[in-house]
Amino acid sequence: MNNKRFQRMIDEFTLDSDDLKNIAAAFRYDIENGVKDNGESSLRMLKSYIGLPTGKEQGEYLALDFGGTNLRVVLIRLLGEGKYEVVKKVAKPLVVPGEYDFICADAKAEDLFDFIADMIDEAIEKNHDKKYLLGHTFSFPSSQTNIYDARLIIWTKEFATQGVEGEVVNDLLKAALKRKQINNVEPTAVINDTVAVLLASAYKLGNVNVGSIYATGHNTCYYEKFNGIGKPAMVINMESGAFNKLGINEFDYKLDLQSEKPYEQRLEKMVSGRYMGELLSYCLDSAWHIGKVGFTSIDISTILADNSDNLDKVCKLLNDKIDAEITVDDAIWVKALAETIASRSARIVVATYCGIMWHLYPNDDIPQQYVAVDGSVFEKMPTIKENMQKGIYEILGDDADKIQLVLENGGSALGAALAAAMEPVEG
Ligand code: GLC
Repeated sequence: MNNKRFQRMIDEFTLDSDDLKNIAAAFRYDIENGVKDNGESSLRMLKSYIGLPTGKEQGEYLALDFGGTNLRVVLIRLLGEGKYEVVKKVAKPLVVPGEYDFICADAKAEDLFDFIADMIDEAIEKNHDKKYLLGHTFSFPSSQTNIYDARLIIWTKEFATQGVEGEVVNDLLKAALKRKQINNVEPTAVINDTVAVLLASAYKLGNVNVGSIYATGHNTCYYEKFNGIGKPAMVINMESGAFNKLGINEFDYKLDLQSEKPYEQRLEKMVSGRYMGELLSYCLDSAWHIGKVGFTSIDISTILADNSDNLDKVCKLLNDKIDAEITVDDAIWVKALAETIASRSARIVVATYCGIMWHLYPNDDIPQQYVAVDGSVFEKMPTIKENMQKGIYEILGDDADKIQLVLENGGSALGAALAAAMEPVEG
């Protein structure tokens, strides 16, 4: 065991308060350049052509939630007054090892969208008479010219299906519905999952301007009024996972080079659930020369949740994965390292939220509001919420009280239904 090596890795993942303030300021800078027509920014700042709901939206809509390894089709009844009912829900994984895989580099768009069309058919119980409008939460960077027309710019989160990049995703969906003779389902709106979270939370709670996903992937959107720029107010999907003004260490660098899309999604690769376990794998290989043993963010959660004296669970996890004698001392260092990887993630994420606040309220007059967040890392990973709260205090001081992080569970489907129900923004 080389304690110095572990201490050095921990130092490489540590961000102090000044680092956080610098990240927030750099992020704000990229937002402000990004809202200008020709500004240089690492944020994509994609227009979503939708505003915020009134809370009064009503009616029955189909919602398709496509953004992670699990696909969901949900029939939702909006009741107004921020209320809704789930009438029917169908969920299926996009990968079943040994059976099928719709997201690997060999997979084809037609097969993927046929699979989705079959799920839609299941959700409507093969009723081909009743008319359904469908809202589609498609959680990848897409450039839009209106609420329907969203073209996938680039796959993220290690998705690699052929024939989708550069295409209008709802056209692919429509073609599949046609092939399956489902002519009564009409896809009308596409939104990002961050936008869905913001819409869902605005519908239920009101007083929210920022929606964020902290899960397999990470990204944030906000309601932009374009003050003084003369463009219609709408929600902007920042694709904040692509933010690239962050110092990276040797492990971030290795992970990036080995990923599906090197040099892309720099921030996301430092913070999101898809990558945190992998960062730990690279660290442990560097310390112990064990090759790349696959750790996941669920493993990180297991490590962080073990508060026993002998770290029994951490020792067991390491012993199961690594072919070497693991001591309690080893486990203590691994836990400290995992804590730092998770804490760096939480701190970077809130630095971006603070950057948005500085952009929205340049006169230091942040009003009380919610920031809506959905995702397994936010919801389930130990230490994350505490570290987020602490990070906000370090950046904003007493103004931190103005921002309440709120879990918006299942917002992707509700948001899609709302997008189908709402009047789009033209422009
Ligand atoms: C990735 C996608 C982004 C999505 C996020 C969370 O960053 O590029 O569109 O919002 O994952 O799912």
